[in-house]
Amino acid sequence: MAIERIAVIGAGQMGTGIAQVAAQAGLAVALVDVAPELAERAHQKLAAALQKLVEKGKLAAGDRQGILERIRPGKSLEAAAGADLAIEAIVEKEEPKVELFRALDGMLGPHAILASNTSSISITKMAAATKRPERFIGMHFMNPPPVMQLIEVIRGLQTSEETWRAIAELATQRFKKTVVTSKDVPGFIVNRVLIPLINEACFALQEGLATPEDIDTAVKLGLNHPMGPLTLADFVGLDTCLYIADVLHRELGEDKYRPASLLRQYVAAGWLGRKTGRGFYRYD
Ligand code: CAA
Ligand code: NAD
Repeated sequence: MAIERIAVIGAGQMGTGIAQVAAQAGLAVALVDVAPELAERAHQKLAAALQKLVEKGKLAAGDRQGILERIRPGKSLEAAAGADLAIEAIVEKEEPKVELFRALDGMLGPHAILASNTSSISITKMAAATKRPERFIGMHFMNPPPVMQLIEVIRGLQTSEETWRAIAELATQRFKKTVVTSKDVPGFIVNRVLIPLINEACFALQEGLATPEDIDTAVKLGLNHPMGPLTLADFVGLDTCLYIADVLHRELGEDKYRPASLLRQYVAAGWLGRKTGRGFYRYD
């Protein structure tokens, strides 16, 4: 099935990056958020980020213009109408996601696919809330989507072979990414492995094992990771890390997944990482 028009709902760090990837591949993108000014602001931020790439000689000025023209910031969810594929990238909470998918289900054409960029929430359960569970799938981009090579595709129990093939083809042939396919288990593959690492680093900090800098340097240089787990958590967003950890703990039911209380406290304090200027580090 041909996918030419997509809608991305949630114009935060992931939604904006996904919109860039799709527009770069030549697709028309409607970018929507809860408030129209957020989608407009995301478009402006993207324009500035792409300008930096142009100045560094990594992107042609014409390509920048093309990407920006193909992304339309929408004023409301109605802007998603006519899309062949809607990719949801809103807050990592089940209720608002389900509510959004119900609304999209009612307004999109019968051929359209619904995809969630969720980090951990059950695809099968969200699919069951719609009238097109066979055309529902997990399309988990990595942060930052334009730079990272992987897309984890998650099949819900009801996801059809045709839907899986359409999304795998889009990801590999149009987006030029590598695809891995995961069963619908909490956290899928990437976050089943990553979130316990980040959470353990939070426990280490909580126990006073070392400073944030030394924990990060130990993992970065000792294990050859591109960045330490606390720095990465600040990039991901500490709220998102906590919500994923809560899903792993609740759904897998094992004490080893319980979120560190320090992580919960940071989120309660509104220290969410880079997006709020303060997390395990300060970003002034
Ligand atoms: N579009 C296109 N290219 C971009 C870009 C954008 N928006 N932003 C940056 N780039 C390019 C830069 O131009 C640069 O290109 P070159 O290598 O050709 O110079 C490259 O990307 C790297 O950018 P930077 O030099 O600014 O930054 P860096 O060297 O620190 O690398 C990084 C950035 C690749 C993201 C690296 O820091 C990294 O690998 N970090 C870890 C990322 C990671 O683990 N992501 C997964 C998070 S978990 C997840 O996503 C799942 C979840 O559900 C939570
Ligand atoms: P973010 O906080 O940067 O952005 C979320 C955006 O969604 C915000 O702009 C918010 O206003 C908007 N939003 C919230 N509720 C909405 C609704 N009902 N309708 C429309 N817009 C709404 O978060 P993010 O980091 O972009 O994460 C988004 C999703 O992607 C989450 O499910 C997260 O788990 C997943 N994800 C995140 C990462 C990461 O590293 N941050 C990586 C992969 C997947």
